[in-house]
This record gives sequence, C-alpha cells and structure tokens, in this order.
Amino acid sequence: MKIITIIGARPQFIKAAAVSREIAKHKDIEEIIVHTGQHFDANMSEIFFHQMQIPKPNYNLAINSLSHGAMTGRMMEKIEKILLAEKPDWVLVYGDTNSTIAGSLAATKLHIKVAHVEAGLRSFNMNMPEEINRIVTDRISDILFCPTETAVNNLKNEGYENIKTKIINCGDVMLDAALFYAPMSKKPQIELPEKFILSTIHRAENTDDPQRLKAIFEALSEISKQIPIVLPLHPRTKKIIGNYKLETTNLQIIEPVGYFEMVHLLQNCEMVMTDSGGLQKEACFFAKPCITLRDETEWVELVENGFNKLVGADKNKIIKAFNEMFLKKINFNKNLYGNGFASQKIINELNK
Ligand code: UD1
Ligand code: UDP
Repeated sequence: MKIITIIGARPQFIKAAAVSREIAKHKDIEEIIVHTGQHFDANMSEIFFHQMQIPKPNYNLAINSLSHGAMTGRMMEKIEKILLAEKPDWVLVYGDTNSTIAGSLAATKLHIKVAHVEAGLRSFNMNMPEEINRIVTDRISDILFCPTETAVNNLKNEGYENIKTKIINCGDVMLDAALFYAPMSKKPQIELPEKFILSTIHRAENTDDPQRLKAIFEALSEISKQIPIVLPLHPRTKKIIGNYKLETTNLQIIEPVGYFEMVHLLQNCEMVMTDSGGLQKEACFFAKPCITLRDETEWVELVENGFNKLVGADKNKIIKAFNEMFLKKINFNKNLYGNGFASQKIINELNK
C-alpha cells in the first residue's frame, strides 16, 4: 500500500511524526511525504524532522507567505502532479491548515481516497480560515479519524450519518507524540526563570486585529510583574508586534523552539497561556492549567473539565482568569484524548 502524507505547518509535523513511526513498522506500506513548504524557517520546520526523526520529505513544494487563495491554489497544482505520478492508495492529511485543504481537494478530484486526521473539530466561527479548511476537508474525505467523542458528535450533528464516510474515534495523535517524545525533552539554550508561565500567540484572529493583540500583550505585561512569562514567538506575531509597537519589555520573548524544548517548557512551567490549538491539549497532557486567548475552542472538553479557561482577548478577563487559575488545584487525572494508540488505530484501519 502506498500512502502520500501531505504536511506543511508546525503542528502537522508533530502529528505526522507519531503516524510515520507507526507506518515504519509496516514493511508493506510505503509512505511518500510531501512538504508543502508552508512553514519554512529552520525552527518552524527542519528542527522537527531532525529531532523527531520524521523521514525526509520526498517532495518540498516551497509554497509559503502567500494569500489564502494563492497559497492553496499553487499547492493544489503541484500536489496534483505528484498524485498523478505516484498513484497512492491513500492521501493522509492532518488538521486544518491551507496545506490540509490543498491536499484533500487535489486528491478527491482525482478520486484518490483521503483520510483526515483530527477530523470533526469545530469552533463554529466561520471567520477562521481553519474552520473553513476543516469543514471542507471533512466533507470530501473518505475516512474521518476523530480525536474525541465531541468531534464525532459534531459530525453527526452535520448529518454525516447520511453520508458515505467512515467515522472513527481513534484518540489524539498528539498524545501519541507527547508520550513517546517526552523522555527526550531538552532544556532550551536560554536562561530560564525558576517559575514561569509559558505563552504562545499566533492565531490570525489575534495577530490580525490590533485591538485584540494590544489587549493580550497588555495583560501579559501586567501578569509578568507577578511571574515571568516565556514566550516562544511565531514569526507571524514577531513581524506584527514590531509594526504595532506593542509593550513587550517584561516578557521573555524567544525564538520558536523545537518540540523537545517545548516539552521541557511544558514540564517546567506553572501555567500555559495560549491561542494555540495543540498547546491547549499539551498543557493538559503535562498537567498544567491553561488559559486560552480565544473566544472559542475546538477542545471543549478541556474547558468542561476545568483544565482550561476560555477568556478571549479582553485584558481584564485575562488577568482575572490568571489569578483564578494560578491558585487553583486541578486534578488532571482524566483520559480525554485516548490512550496513546491513535496512530496504530489509523494505520490498522487504512491497511484493512
Ligand atoms: C498556520 C495555520 C494555522 C496554524 C499555524 C501553526 C493556515 C490558514 N493557518 O498559520 O491554523 O495554527 O499555521 O503554526 O494554514 N512565516 C515565517 N516563517 C515560517 C512560517 C511562517 O516567516 O516558517 C510567516 C509567513 O511568511 C507568513 C506568516 O508567518 O507571513 C503566516 O504563515 P502562514 O503559514 O500563512 O500561517 P500561520 O499563521 O503560520
Ligand atoms: N510548538 C513547538 N515550538 C514552539 C511553539 C509550538 O514545538 O515554539 C509545538 C507545540 O508544542 C504544539 C504545536 O507546536 O505541539 C502547536 O503548533 P501551533 O501552536 O503552531 O499550531 P496550532 O496547534 O495552533 O495549529
């Protein structure tokens, strides 16, 4: 069997690392990796392949830094050529980025079967590019690998029971990755405070709205008077905070780090404050409270269980939530994302 994996953005490398490890156990499966090039800085791409020993991509399309239409269109054009030449049995796509929709659309139009990992998630906010990407990808995929029961129910509510698509709750491949790679965690080469908050900010809904971004940075600056904040900064946000001249003096802003360093930061921080999807779950995997700087989350079970507080981009709400969550004793002893065998379930299913 031949699988073509389409990846291009940081969280997809981490998810694909777990699944590629599983594929490698099957001598009868050939994996061809297509890197769209969406993320391209060494610390946003290469470091993950190197650290997590993801096989070197067979193709790198080098498509990035474009508008949504241009990026997706150019990716589709190149992916189509590869699919015609390689004739895979399956195309495997992850998550909700432009690389995801480009891969799934190119494949389905050629009648090549598509498997979507991290299917069924919804924010119910159609202004998010990710929501559009995941809704379309789910609808045109042949197998939907859902990480949670909530994701399965979202699909049922959209009438998927009447659509010829296989839906499987396999758990979250990010848990597979966290469990496998946690022992390899590595201190970043920076001076780390003894106690600190780990923060990341990159979502378009925050970075592209000066009011929201200003409020978030003001809140973080205020909180950093109580406890240091370490902020590995996505290049998107780095470019923008320069333009807006935001208050960042008290924050320990560092370059994006590799996954091993990120795990070290997760293991050693007191709390996470983020707008990242992946980091919200990883906070839970590493038993750290999380404040989510968004108006909605796809990972609602974290909020329902009190592990995560959704605060949006309101300065006062962020500070209030910090004070509440910082003092709270939380018991994280709950299995929300499966048991670490999601990748195995995915590959066994594709191999049937
Ligand atoms: C993308 C995903 C988002 C995901 C995020 C993970 C889409 C629509 N969005 O957002 O869902 O949460 O990846 O990190 O696919 N840039 C660099 N160097 C890099 C990567 C990006 O400078 O290595 C710059 C680009 O030039 C661009 C900006 O960052 O100007 C945004 O990159 P893009 O890939 O379009 O979207 P992300 O914000 O990374
Ligand atoms: N991550 C990382 N280094 C960083 C920031 C994030 O390794 O400097 C990892 C993080 O641990 C998680 C994934 O990247 O596994 C999440 O990616 P991101 O926040 O970029 O995207 P999202 O999950 O929001 O789509």
